[in-house]
Amino acid sequence: MRICVVGTGYVGLVTGACFAEIGHDVWCVDVDERKIAMLQEGRIPIYEPGLEEIVRRNASQGRLRFTTSLKEGMESSLFIFIAVGTPPDDAGAADLSFVWSVAREIGDHLESYKVVVTKSTVPVGTTLRVKKIIAERLALRGRTDVEFDAAFCPEFLKEGNAVEDFMKPDRIVVGTENNRTAELLKELFFLFTMRENRILTMSIASAELTKYAANAMLATRISFMNELARFCERVDADVDEVRTGMGSDSRIGSSFLYAGVGYGGSCFPKDVRALIASGDEAESPLSILKAVDAVNRDQREWFLKKIMSHYGGDVAGRTFAVWGLSFKPQTDDVRESPALYMIPRLVEAGARIRAHDPVATANARERLAGLEGAVEYTGENYEALEGADALLLMTEWPPFRRPDFQRMKELLRHPVIFDGRNQYSPALMRAMGFDYVCIGRR
Ligand SMILES: NC(=O)c1ccc[n+]([C@@H]2O[C@H](COP(=O)([O-])OP(=O)(O)OC[C@H]3O[C@@H](n4cnc5c(N)ncnc54)[C@H](O)[C@@H]3O)[C@@H](O)[C@H]2O)c1
Repeated sequence: MRICVVGTGYVGLVTGACFAEIGHDVWCVDVDERKIAMLQEGRIPIYEPGLEEIVRRNASQGRLRFTTSLKEGMESSLFIFIAVGTPPDDAGAADLSFVWSVAREIGDHLESYKVVVTKSTVPVGTTLRVKKIIAERLALRGRTDVEFDAAFCPEFLKEGNAVEDFMKPDRIVVGTENNRTAELLKELFFLFTMRENRILTMSIASAELTKYAANAMLATRISFMNELARFCERVDADVDEVRTGMGSDSRIGSSFLYAGVGYGGSCFPKDVRALIASGDEAESPLSILKAVDAVNRDQREWFLKKIMSHYGGDVAGRTFAVWGLSFKPQTDDVRESPALYMIPRLVEAGARIRAHDPVATANARERLAGLEGAVEYTGENYEALEGADALLLMTEWPPFRRPDFQRMKELLRHPVIFDGRNQYSPALMRAMGFDYVCIGRR
């Protein structure tokens, strides 16, 4: 089948590459000329395990092509997937301007029947508005004879495991208005769910809300555990023990119950806030989510306070090694990364930073532009410790999980670890003579 994917970011590129990998003909479209030029040269603009090989293989076999022209990409395609960003606006609601702009352009170029599928995470009502915009543009051109359908298929991939998630999804949600579209999309997605039927068809509104509800639930579990971890410290309980005890109840399960320095990334913070904004707009306030968001914001501050209080409130002149800049392991994405929240705050308080990340340094450097004088980036994690007063563990990349503690002790000026991800054993750290500050553990 012929497919056009509009927006070649984390979601669009994975979508396009994976569709090509199972034999479809795909055009990936983006307005970013630099990105498209890179892709045309066989280089990928993001770090995502396994993706580069798939892109190269399919591009070289002619199944995956890249263009800045939506007209060119959509011309021969039956499906057009919209995968552009939906960042938060100033009030926290989803800024849909990229989606509207693509819808207008589709309406300006549509010549034959297509299924226009929104894949970006969008509030209820967006897909029908996309449809309306396309219809209006067709009417302006006097082409009301051109038929098309609109649908919504949310994306559930996780950065860092995106290819695997796309290829072997837990489920595929298909929101449609009619059987024709549902059947076409089922056929398109059939190969991804061959082992058992996991295609869930539903109304467009339900599908739009499903995506937000899933992310909001995961974020809720994290905030719940973070707040509980703070309480654990007050009552001398251990959040890890509590987590194991409650997570082994099969009704609860063990995923997303890890206390830490708060969730980040391009999805959870923005999606929780967008859903809150939608609830307020519909006069149906989502008070649990307001608390989830507030706890997440507080968590970073709370951890920062722990660091500050270790130094009697004054970190001026101190040097901190930071391990991990991405918002989670296996990605170069630093959007809403807790590390990128902490670093400017510590620098503001007079500290210096020596930071290392396996792949996210370039993105972090760009976001932290202006702090060059106070932030140094090292090519290797142990190098960051040299002459530092303490280590801040911000992302649980695998190489940071079982490091050489003896070597760390020798490199650090003082054996102090602030562990924002609860990676090390407090007992072992104490036995080795570290001052070990973690989250909700004894
Ligand atoms: N990143 C994730 O893990 C993830 C997971 C599930 C869903 N989502 C959702 O998917 C959507 C895309 O997220 P992302 O992380 O891939 O974003 P991204 O910022 O990585 O990519 C978006 C791309 O769209 C391009 N774009 C903007 N306007 C365009 C236009 N008019 N025509 C063509 N291209 C245009 C941008 O240049 C950019 O390359 C968002 O709604 C997000 O919430 C993201």
